[in-house]
Amino acid sequence: MLILLIASLALVFYVWQRRTYSYWQRHGIKSIKPVPILGNLRTFLTGKVPFFEQISLLHNTPGYEKEPLIGVYLLRGPGVIVRDLELIKTVMIKKFNYFVNRALSTDPHRDPIGYNNMFIVRNPEWKMIRNKLSPVFTSGKIKQMYPLMVEIGKDLELTLEKVPVDSAIRIKDTCARFTTDLIATTAFGVKANSLKNIKSEFFKHNVAIFEISWLRALDIGIIFLLPALASLARVKFFSKKSSEFIYKTVTYVLSEREKSGLHRNDLIDILLALKREAAEKGENMTKELDFLVAQAAVFQTAGFETSSSTMSLTLYELALNTELQDRLREEVKQYFGDEDHISYERIQEMPYLTQVVNETLRKYPIVGYAERECSQPESGEKFTLEPYYDFEVPSGMPFYISTLAIHRDEKYWPDPEKYDPERFAPENRHNINMDAYMPFGIGPRNCIGMRLGLLQSKLGLVHLFRNHRVIQCDKTIKSINFSAKCPVMASDVDIYLQLIRD
Ligand code: HEM
Repeated sequence: MLILLIASLALVFYVWQRRTYSYWQRHGIKSIKPVPILGNLRTFLTGKVPFFEQISLLHNTPGYEKEPLIGVYLLRGPGVIVRDLELIKTVMIKKFNYFVNRALSTDPHRDPIGYNNMFIVRNPEWKMIRNKLSPVFTSGKIKQMYPLMVEIGKDLELTLEKVPVDSAIRIKDTCARFTTDLIATTAFGVKANSLKNIKSEFFKHNVAIFEISWLRALDIGIIFLLPALASLARVKFFSKKSSEFIYKTVTYVLSEREKSGLHRNDLIDILLALKREAAEKGENMTKELDFLVAQAAVFQTAGFETSSSTMSLTLYELALNTELQDRLREEVKQYFGDEDHISYERIQEMPYLTQVVNETLRKYPIVGYAERECSQPESGEKFTLEPYYDFEVPSGMPFYISTLAIHRDEKYWPDPEKYDPERFAPENRHNINMDAYMPFGIGPRNCIGMRLGLLQSKLGLVHLFRNHRVIQCDKTIKSINFSAKCPVMASDVDIYLQLIRD
């Protein structure tokens, strides 16, 4: 009986798998041959590379160089890798109304912080949230926050002064402390003191959000790759500990702000206005608090890891290319002059700093890929893959764009492995195709924090280079391998650099 049962199950599985894995062939679309069970995600699912690198490997599959798109098989079923820049613009901008959602989801009932946050939330809620929170990120609002940011820049200088002369430091740790303090003050109006206090609670919790145990990896895997199972598997985007910490922080900050009546024009002010609006409408306040905490949570996570990686990878490349570093330091010293900071307007004008940060994000587009899910309307015109294929895309089909592969494609970026800020020099601008540059994604659902992310990375770099330079030491790695455990770009081992007072 048992043998018969196993044989029947194996047969059902075989037939199901054959049918699933012939989907693209049946529709006449060029696709990559999958392996049983793992589809086209073998390298990722066996823990060898992070997801964004797997998408890049699929984009670069030999023999597919001229394809505008490739059919692939993920755990959830068929998906599309979009290679052609025009088709990317069609999906992300021109036909955005078919691609408003990301291809991921979490459990709506048991994971309100994950489900409601701006990164994951689906339309129509996404549009409402994005419209309400966009005012936090205007140039005017960021300018008002700038003095608070400069304070953290000065804290960074003080911290570096205390480092014993010419010692090797773990550069990511320093940068992560800097961006944690920045987000805490700009978004929440609290002093996290991660730079000053090595044992800062806020920093400990912030880092923990990105630490992935096997159990967390399973939850995140389901959210990204099997979203249909999210409710059944009761997954959570943030761990229990992280959620508790974020809840505690936000409720504390909201109540303090309400008591003091202070206005800081920051995220908390906007969240409080939303809270008042909900109370006037008589909405369920527990649900409302979940919603407010979810937005704060995404700013905290999206804001700290991305900018600290941008800073540390810039420092790494400049330690390897000392003449580029000398040129940047000259500019930094010139812009500081006799002042203790560079003004909001002047830091944006620094030409070489801008070239350097642009080139870091070209070689290391921190998020690595972008994704969207197709939603077809019930009636009216449907989205098809014309002019490439006569194929009406079904609702729910995920589309992936490998930013990493495009940023390192020699067709757009000659000698792509070379770190060369000259690519972005004004005289070379006409040589570059800016459609092949998308570190912050593209279209209406691109990164809402782009201005803030660029500004905080630049601010950290100028305060670090004001009195210090970085060089390679015995412990410095020769090249970067991406960590398979981190969802965004990070080195798999610590990057040590020697800090020289100068
Ligand atoms: C150098 C720093 C940063 C980089 C490289 C970066 C990159 C990205 C990318 C690639 C996306 C996906 C875009 C797409 O799908 O088209 C994204 C989305 C997002 N980012 Fe950033 N980011 C940075 C900093 C920040 C900061 C400082 C914040 C907020 C404080 C932030 C908040 C967000 C949010 C909320 C989303 C989701 C937007 C939506 O779905 O409407 N990011 N980011």
